[in-house]
Amino acid sequence: MNKVPLPAFFLLLLLLIRLPLMAQTQVVPVGNVNNVSISGQQVKIKTNNAFAEITVYSPSVVRVRIDKHPLPADFSYAVIAKPLPTKAEITQNNSEISIITDSLKVRIQKSPFAVSFFSPSGDVISEDEPGLGTSWIGDEVTTYKKMQDNERFIGLGEKTGNLDRKGEGYTNWNSDVFGYATNRDPIYATIPFYIGIHHRTNYGIFFDNSYQSDFNFGASNNRFSSFGARGGEMNYYFIYHPQITDIIRSYTGLTGRMPMPPLWSLGYQQNRYSYYPDTEVYRIAQTLREKKIPADGITLDIHYMDAYKLFTWNKERFPDPAQLTSRLKDMGFRITVIVDPGIKVEDGYHAYESGKKENIFLKYADGQNYTGQVWPGWCHFPDFTSEKGRNWWKGQVKSYIRDGVSGIWNDMNEIATWGQKMPNNVIFNYEGQPTTHLQAHNIYGLEMVRASYEGARESLQKRPFLLTRAAYAGSQRYSALWTGDNRAEEDHMLLGVRLLNSLGVSGFPFTGMDVGGFTGNPSVSLYTRWMQIGAFIPYFRNHTGVNTKSAEPWAFGEETLEITRNYINLRYRLLPYLYSTMYTASRTGVPVMRTLALQNTFDAPVYDTRFQNQYQFGDAYMVAPFESSKEFGSIYFPQGKWYNLYTDAVTTGGQDTITSLNIKTLPVYVKESSIVPMQSQVQSTRDKPVDTLFLHLYKGSQPNTFVYYEDDGESFAYEKGDFYERAITYDPAQRLLTLQKPRGSYSSEFHHIQLVLHGFDNQQRVTVNGNAVSVDVHPFSFLSPISRFDPQGSFIPAESCPVQVATFANSNELLNVGL
Ligand code: NOJ
Repeated sequence: MNKVPLPAFFLLLLLLIRLPLMAQTQVVPVGNVNNVSISGQQVKIKTNNAFAEITVYSPSVVRVRIDKHPLPADFSYAVIAKPLPTKAEITQNNSEISIITDSLKVRIQKSPFAVSFFSPSGDVISEDEPGLGTSWIGDEVTTYKKMQDNERFIGLGEKTGNLDRKGEGYTNWNSDVFGYATNRDPIYATIPFYIGIHHRTNYGIFFDNSYQSDFNFGASNNRFSSFGARGGEMNYYFIYHPQITDIIRSYTGLTGRMPMPPLWSLGYQQNRYSYYPDTEVYRIAQTLREKKIPADGITLDIHYMDAYKLFTWNKERFPDPAQLTSRLKDMGFRITVIVDPGIKVEDGYHAYESGKKENIFLKYADGQNYTGQVWPGWCHFPDFTSEKGRNWWKGQVKSYIRDGVSGIWNDMNEIATWGQKMPNNVIFNYEGQPTTHLQAHNIYGLEMVRASYEGARESLQKRPFLLTRAAYAGSQRYSALWTGDNRAEEDHMLLGVRLLNSLGVSGFPFTGMDVGGFTGNPSVSLYTRWMQIGAFIPYFRNHTGVNTKSAEPWAFGEETLEITRNYINLRYRLLPYLYSTMYTASRTGVPVMRTLALQNTFDAPVYDTRFQNQYQFGDAYMVAPFESSKEFGSIYFPQGKWYNLYTDAVTTGGQDTITSLNIKTLPVYVKESSIVPMQSQVQSTRDKPVDTLFLHLYKGSQPNTFVYYEDDGESFAYEKGDFYERAITYDPAQRLLTLQKPRGSYSSEFHHIQLVLHGFDNQQRVTVNGNAVSVDVHPFSFLSPISRFDPQGSFIPAESCPVQVATFANSNELLNVGL
């Protein structure tokens, strides 16, 4: 037998030792296609190194799955949609596979495997970067897309940074980031969905992989944008529509939409860490009423519990929780309580004992319960990825509902533990397919709010209010989200606006931030400006940390109190508009708070860092938020005509202007042709407004439709058709405002309509179904005058606009209002 020479033997040995390591050091591409099977709307592909599956979900949505192993059965916590039966023409030749739907063309190159997407007219929408495509480094899988000329990127949920994310990279790993810096990444939530924009076209990519994921929009490279994860499959949905609103509609078609929130949750919420004992809660409630600051909610932070033990009340501080919630309800307030996932390890504590008995806690790989430290000390954590764990939690949550609680605030669910390093060998049930912390971390918050929502809904039998800090795509199905522990600083207020705008384009419409700032103490002017902005965000809650000064609206002096009250008042008068806009969001996913990029996608100035914080609040309003310290600000007006909210002065769009700023008013503009329903002033949503709906119409040149919506504000009867939905259409060419016949079985609370005309010629004639209606002219103010704090005590008059009003009966008939 020939002997192997000694050096060659060592070389061979070295190679054998290094082979497993090479998997980590090499980039392994998908390779060339060598087998294709087409069936219906799906293509299955085998390549040198991988298995792929391309599935048509709808004419505009195509899913791409790639893995090194044969693809396992499909599973996702985020996606609730199945492929729709879709006409798709799938063919192949030697070099490529082609998929053609009514809205999209997909080309899959065979050597090497690469996927490109084209519009029906053949323009490139997105294409794999030739030469890079999809590849692995060890278990990490990444897809590289060619960076298109002047490509922009928006979305990716709760991410710091600019509106246009070009040149930046981001990581998704839900993190507890107390007092985070304005450029901190990651923070609390993972929404791996973004929108790319180039050459007057736009597309969405949703990368459904819950491992730690990384997105690169041209950070440290000029060749590609990419998305990848530390494990799991390459699994993305490509969405193409000419309008971004439709992309969001398709994305939320996949991951679900917000249910209608209870009306009270859109009112003002007062909070701090923490109001206790109960007498302090009554004092806050009483003061809000005495000072005529409309409000609907008070939130109890962790001090309501006995030693931070979940599902307990501190009996000294809160001797009778049911009485507290019922007395507050009589005053028009709802109580929300905070819950954290950590269950204190303490013999005899009922939640611990029952969780142990029912065996629902997360475990290490060797079967021992995982123990981590958080507020109560050493804790176990329910496994929300098992039905058993969720059911256990639902049972516990019911105790709050029995005590009259209306809202559940889910905190610390990243999971946050002291040390912030939950071990990766903690095992999660994952619906019977056990997996490690690596895969389950980012979806833990989603499954926690799911359990909280389902538990509260079952026992309340009405709409509960849910709030969460951590999230994954799909959490919008259960909960509102707030942006955690921000700082009482000017740039945090503006960052907060961008975070909420980004969440909005990422399918999350019900969002808020700690108005006033969580850490530190805001200056008087910062607090004032922030509260004004708060009136124009979906979830309006004032919250502050444990060691900070009082931050209620009366804690900053009389002038701030008046200004703040003015804006909270305005918020309540706008509730019919806001509620209708929430309804649209719940039906279509189109958010309430909208970056200007949503409707002016190809208008470069909206991405300019000077203007990127401007946003639309619903269809009608454009808010221009500025630091409270600024005396002048540049505002960009997109095409069209814009009315100053307070004076009706008109600015023509397509330009930016410098505006002088003052702390009494937040710059807000109304788009021409807008239709804004308002109601009379109330102190709480429990109070009935007068039965006249004020319908503001802004003269314009563009046709417009507003979908007006009402229901009982609290039950699920709307799911069975007990709602009142009415399209209101303005047709300037015909000089006509049409209130279509309403849909649904609910009767409107408003028996009269007062049309409030802005910008119309003097002596406007108004007819309703051909009959003339009298028109009055008077000045109109959205805000009340502000006291001038000088010895004379005079008032700064409120800015007002001259309007013409016409009142007529509301009926379910088609109402044609001639103008
Ligand atoms: C962290 C939350 O982000 C904050 O809002 C809350 O007040 C504290 N936890 C205490 O519960």
